[in-house]
Amino acid sequence: MPPLSTMKAIVVEKPGGTEVLEVRSHHPVPTPQEGQLLVKNRICGVNYIDTYFRTGLYPSAKPEILGREAVGTVVALGPGANPYNFQVSDRVAWMATSGYAEYSAVPQASAVKVPEEISDEDVMASFLSGLTVLSLAKETYPVQKGDWVLLHAAAGGAGFLMTQILKIIGAKVIGTAGGPEKVELVKSLGADYVIDYRSEEGKDWVKQVKEITGGRGVDVVYDSVGKDTWEGSLEAVKRKGTIVWFGNASGPVPPLPLNKLSPKCVKVARPTLFGYIETREELEFYVNELFSLLKSGQLKVKVHKVYPLEEVAQAHNDLEGRKSTGKLLLKA
Ligand SMILES: NC(=O)c1ccc[n+]([C@@H]2O[C@H](COP(=O)([O-])OP(=O)(O)OC[C@H]3O[C@@H](n4cnc5c(N)ncnc54)[C@H](OP(=O)(O)O)[C@@H]3O)[C@@H](O)[C@H]2O)c1
Repeated sequence: MPPLSTMKAIVVEKPGGTEVLEVRSHHPVPTPQEGQLLVKNRICGVNYIDTYFRTGLYPSAKPEILGREAVGTVVALGPGANPYNFQVSDRVAWMATSGYAEYSAVPQASAVKVPEEISDEDVMASFLSGLTVLSLAKETYPVQKGDWVLLHAAAGGAGFLMTQILKIIGAKVIGTAGGPEKVELVKSLGADYVIDYRSEEGKDWVKQVKEITGGRGVDVVYDSVGKDTWEGSLEAVKRKGTIVWFGNASGPVPPLPLNKLSPKCVKVARPTLFGYIETREELEFYVNELFSLLKSGQLKVKVHKVYPLEEVAQAHNDLEGRKSTGKLLLKA
């Protein structure tokens, strides 16, 4: 069936709270340009980065359709070359922009065909988040068997997958999570220790990390919480250790005087997924790894909830309100 001329989409006209998420039911369907595919989305991923673009923490041109990933079916190809042999009716997952919509025009180079064995929900629960954590564990700091790793927000969309990847590698994992249910979830993934950093006993998580590691500290901290945890992360890392700051769930890390790193010779990284996955080769490398982990059953996914597109504000409220575990999805 040819695409309609208008579609449902979530449009943000100006930065702000969840009230700026406008549900439009007659937004124009984009026309695929040279090198693009028109995809009829079925499920879109909700990622914390979407909230940064909504609030303006990360600047972006407005009006804007939020959403950095979706899975759906190719309904049209733009003119020009077709280097990856896409065809109408291919089932694809993609990472680009404007995902909170029934249709998205996306660069061919950002889309991949999804094997039949992997469901729409499973691919969206692990696509952007899974590719992120694979690149963090392989490239930002190449985690080795036996490394002590501190992972904050271990029950979240990225954290749920990262805990498993770290255990597959053979690292010793100390996770943090807010509340007893999240703690149990992270334990069930095989984390060696899990600290409820919102509880009275868990508030001094730095001391606990030191005790667990025999006073030494961890080899690497993966910190996506940012403002509230960065000082503790700096204390909890070992001499010559690495801190990977990869997100701002509680707000950005303030400007850091570099001499704070010198007493322990600490290395700091501030990676982004799109910095590691820029070329087609890089995308295919990580996608192949992700898909084989999913197909073999080694990597499990967790969907917090699939929300109708119209309930996007609720999804953002739940994510920012720390109410979710695993991944939030929108049904296009
Ligand atoms: N650099 C990159 O390329 C990249 C790519 C993907 C994701 N990320 C980052 O990874 C992090 C996780 O993303 P996600 O989409 O999977 O989200 P998520 O982990 O599902 O949700 C964020 C979690 O952060 C924790 N948190 C701690 N303090 C918080 C606060 N003040 N407000 C809200 N949440 C707080 C909460 O878990 P607790 O209740 O357990 O504390 C919350 O569930 C985000 O920081 C995101 O920006 C970065």
